[in-house]
Amino acid sequence: MMSMTPTREQVIEQLRGVIDPELRRSIVELDMVRSIEIADDGAVAVVVSLTTPGCPIRSHFQQAVTQRVSDLPGVRGVSVDFDVLSADEKAGLQQKLGRNRLPEGALAQVKNVICVASGKGGVGKSTVTANLAAALSLEGHTSGALDADVWGYSIPRMLGVSGKPRVSEQRKILPIEAAGGVRVMSIGFFVEEDAAVVWRGPMLHKAIQQFLEDVDWGALDYLLIDLPPGTGDVSMTLAQLLPQAKMLLVTTPQPAAQSVARRAAEMAGKFDLEILGVVENMSGFTTPDGGRYTIFGEGGGQALADDIDVPLLGKVPLQEELRACADEGVPLVAEDPDAPASQALFHLARGLVAATPQALPVVQAPAVAAGIGMGGKELPVIQ
Ligand SMILES: Nc1ncnc2c1ncn2[C@@H]1O[C@H](COP(=O)(O)OP(=O)(O)OP(=O)(O)O)[C@@H](O)[C@H]1O
Ligand SMILES: [Mg+2]
Repeated sequence: MMSMTPTREQVIEQLRGVIDPELRRSIVELDMVRSIEIADDGAVAVVVSLTTPGCPIRSHFQQAVTQRVSDLPGVRGVSVDFDVLSADEKAGLQQKLGRNRLPEGALAQVKNVICVASGKGGVGKSTVTANLAAALSLEGHTSGALDADVWGYSIPRMLGVSGKPRVSEQRKILPIEAAGGVRVMSIGFFVEEDAAVVWRGPMLHKAIQQFLEDVDWGALDYLLIDLPPGTGDVSMTLAQLLPQAKMLLVTTPQPAAQSVARRAAEMAGKFDLEILGVVENMSGFTTPDGGRYTIFGEGGGQALADDIDVPLLGKVPLQEELRACADEGVPLVAEDPDAPASQALFHLARGLVAATPQALPVVQAPAVAAGIGMGGKELPVIQ
């Protein structure tokens, strides 16, 4: 008896399980399956259409398609070929995704957007963001730091920048460059010092949206976003605007912090944001004579990382100079690269680079187009 070859429908059904890791939908749903040919001998040939020719996720599709189709009874060999979506097809894809544009927006030249988050306040998010941005820059990666903590902005102070951002001829807000080249944007540039800003939801959303769309970030390898503590409005806005953003979770070593940080992880899960890893901050204290004290306990970072199944990318020790430098506006990684905390931060930077091998531009989703319906004030930009 001849063995049965699979039907086209069966192959399509299998391909539904092949997910585009960037767009997070099935290639069938995204209309990226160009053709399927099933020969009488059970050989199946699939052509997948990609958004760009040099797509680094090619091998992912190659492997996933081969594996899924091979699972069907009667299949004797699978071949996977690629072509590229036409401009019209890309437009159709954008529409399907509810987005106005694929990577041509303000962040089109930003390769990685990483939100630095924590479950609770005061664990060192801003310190990590500022120093990590500086460390990445010192290691030769272009970096930016966006201060999305509109209530407790601290990035300008930590990176030693102030003043009013200028506006370019294209009417884009220019980030202020810190010593060492980190491009910085913060609500702190637009409000009077110590002024109590009462942000209501729509205003907040609008401000964050402007930071992403109306700021001329230029070409960046890494844009780090310092989130306010907790899992509130800002995080939600960012998740909507930047479905491709990744998260870095900061926690302290004690178990209590870990359970709070897990909530931030749950939020990331809810919004479908990928968590790159965990950073344990205030992780032990080393005395000049080499004694080590675990002031905030031990193991919280590793436990959280294990719990949510992501790597522990770094353990930054407590070091007075880290705080002192932040207060003076010079990141410790620049001031004293050999300090224990600096070394930990460089290690973290390298871990981050290793964890973000895909240099794909971020796809942006304008919130207004997505029907979130924002009113809100424009940022008080000085011309
Ligand atoms: N590893 C460390 N060693 C010493 N001091 C640190 C360390 N990490 C952070 N700090 C200090 O702890 C304080 C809180 O840090 P930071 O402002 O970065 O936390 P945060 O999580 O951003 O806080 P918030 O939730 O208020 O935004 C700062 O004074 C900072 O200088
Ligand atoms: Mg902060």
